[in-house]
Amino acid sequence: MQTITPADRPTTSVPGAVDRVTAAALRPARTVVRWSVRHALPAVFLDRAARRGDPVGRLLRDTEVRDQPYGVHEELRARGPLVGSGLGLVTTSHAVASEVLRSDRFGVGWDRSAAPRLIRWALRFADELDASGVAEPPSMLVVDPPDHTRFRRLVSRSFTPRATAAFEPMVQRTADALLDALELRGGTVDLVETYAAQLPVLVIADLLGVPLERRADFLRWGAAAAATLDPGLSFRRYVAAEHALRAMHGFLREHFERLRREPADDLVSRLVGLPDDEALTERELHATVMLLLGAGFETTVNLLGNAVVLLDEHRDQWEAMRADPTGWDNAVEEVLRHDSPVQITGRTARTEAEVAGRTVPAGGRVTVLLGAANRDPELFPDAARFDVTRTNAREHVAFSAGIHYCVGAGLARLEGVVGLRALAERFPELRVSGRPVRRDLQTLRGYEHLPVTLR
Ligand code: HEM
Repeated sequence: MQTITPADRPTTSVPGAVDRVTAAALRPARTVVRWSVRHALPAVFLDRAARRGDPVGRLLRDTEVRDQPYGVHEELRARGPLVGSGLGLVTTSHAVASEVLRSDRFGVGWDRSAAPRLIRWALRFADELDASGVAEPPSMLVVDPPDHTRFRRLVSRSFTPRATAAFEPMVQRTADALLDALELRGGTVDLVETYAAQLPVLVIADLLGVPLERRADFLRWGAAAAATLDPGLSFRRYVAAEHALRAMHGFLREHFERLRREPADDLVSRLVGLPDDEALTERELHATVMLLLGAGFETTVNLLGNAVVLLDEHRDQWEAMRADPTGWDNAVEEVLRHDSPVQITGRTARTEAEVAGRTVPAGGRVTVLLGAANRDPELFPDAARFDVTRTNAREHVAFSAGIHYCVGAGLARLEGVVGLRALAERFPELRVSGRPVRRDLQTLRGYEHLPVTLR
């Protein structure tokens, strides 16, 4: 459970000029400390584990395994539904994943007070709003109730099935405009750069009322900041990510000020204008909107890219979709199952828990390999086969389960269906025409470059 003692409580403002000067002078030291605790230290453990052949270490550190993780998933599966690794327990089982993700014995936070003193000091010293990412509290992704319930209630109103259905015309218009531009260009293009990344960022920008002309900035910041979801970043990548995070927080600060002055009819205007008894602190506001913005485009780009490659490899299924576009709903589910855009999450036991015949001690970590659970043969027969007509494809846990189930799942599905259907209608002869390059990430799985010929 996330327990932040008053002494640990983050400082959100630096009052006087002297304090501001001190904060600026301390910034490089804070960056180094932050990187050391969050990345350098985990990297030592992960590298050691990977060298010993530990599967989780290999999954997180070996770039070849990152590109093709499914063999390691099967090695783990052969050892049982919940197995020990150098880094705690890990599951490849759909049943165990669902149980852990839904159980109130598990949470996403961790008890900082149980950490060694030096680590606690380092976390306090290094804490800074402008350098914080989506995997740090108070991002709802990593906080437990009651805070989680409070944040979630505020945003989920904008993502009800009815609200999501109302986005469809905007998503379709956005996809059509991007395809018009592609049609003019013709020939060979990078489909990630020109379409798969553009559609989600334009849609989420519209939803959050942020200026569309900033989309190139968001894409650049998002690509760098997405790396902070992975443990063990090199100093160079961490500094690039932190730079992007600072730029995003700077942008958000201006955006909030603008909407406070001139509120519009969007989710962020509502969040900045909440009545006093519901109001979010400045830090909570940054964390919530940063998560929506980042999650809104850093994941759906992977769904679209993974789908195009899979359907190119299974051309008969692309043709079947063209013949009967009503199949796109299930095709999107099958892509999410077969090549899940978010591969890994985890939970910490809040109290001792029995799972799959094993005792998980309080504070024990369970790594949940979502991508592996989605290929569990207990639930999905011939699970490695890509089949857009699979009847239970939708039972995947690609959007997680339980209280952290993806808020944007409906929107992501809509973008997947509309985006792919429109692409196939406009460019029925589209083919992958070069080697797609995977993003250098472990938690997220997708393509950085996807060369295609539009024909
Ligand atoms: C294909 C696209 C997407 C995938 C695969 C995906 C996947 C996920 C997963 C696996 C989680 C939960 C992680 C965990 O349990 O630890 C999650 C949470 C979340 N997602 Fe998504 N997501 C996608 C698109 C979106 C979009 C478009 C939005 C934007 C609105 C969004 C917003 C969020 C938020 C706010 C959370 C945190 C929910 C919570 O902690 O209660 N996601 N997503």
